[in-house]
Amino acid sequence: MADNSVNNDHSLRELVAQTFVIYMKTYALHWNYEGQKFFGVHSMTEAQYEELAAAIDVLAERMRAMGQSTPVSLRQILESSHMRELREASDEQALKDLAKSNRQISQLAASVAEMAEKVGDHYTHDLAVSRIGVHDKHAWMIESFFKAH
Ligand SMILES: [Fe+2]
Repeated sequence: MADNSVNNDHSLRELVAQTFVIYMKTYALHWNYEGQKFFGVHSMTEAQYEELAAAIDVLAERMRAMGQSTPVSLRQILESSHMRELREASDEQALKDLAKSNRQISQLAASVAEMAEKVGDHYTHDLAVSRIGVHDKHAWMIESFFKAH
């Protein structure tokens, strides 16, 4: 297991890093979104950032349990993440970007799950699979703000 866990190191680190980036994007909307959807966006993002904070802790502690090192700075988070940060964007663009980011990390979680299964790391596999469900759900909820009625 020790040798195999090395193969899983990079992907779990990226999953932690991308979850952190999404956490920040979720907070940015929670704090700054304005307009008719304010209350819905504000409430939804609160539930999501609370879930993400708990998940970051579980994923990072799994890294430690497997003898891996976690990111220790925001710089390392960004270096370990292939997720684009959003800088200048309208509220609507930020909302769409957050939905896209949740779809992106869902795919990453699927590849982490596959990789973990290949090396017999059942617990990491289970964690990664659970992240697929959460991020697909978050994406669906965010995308629902854009459906025409
Ligand atoms: Fe809040």
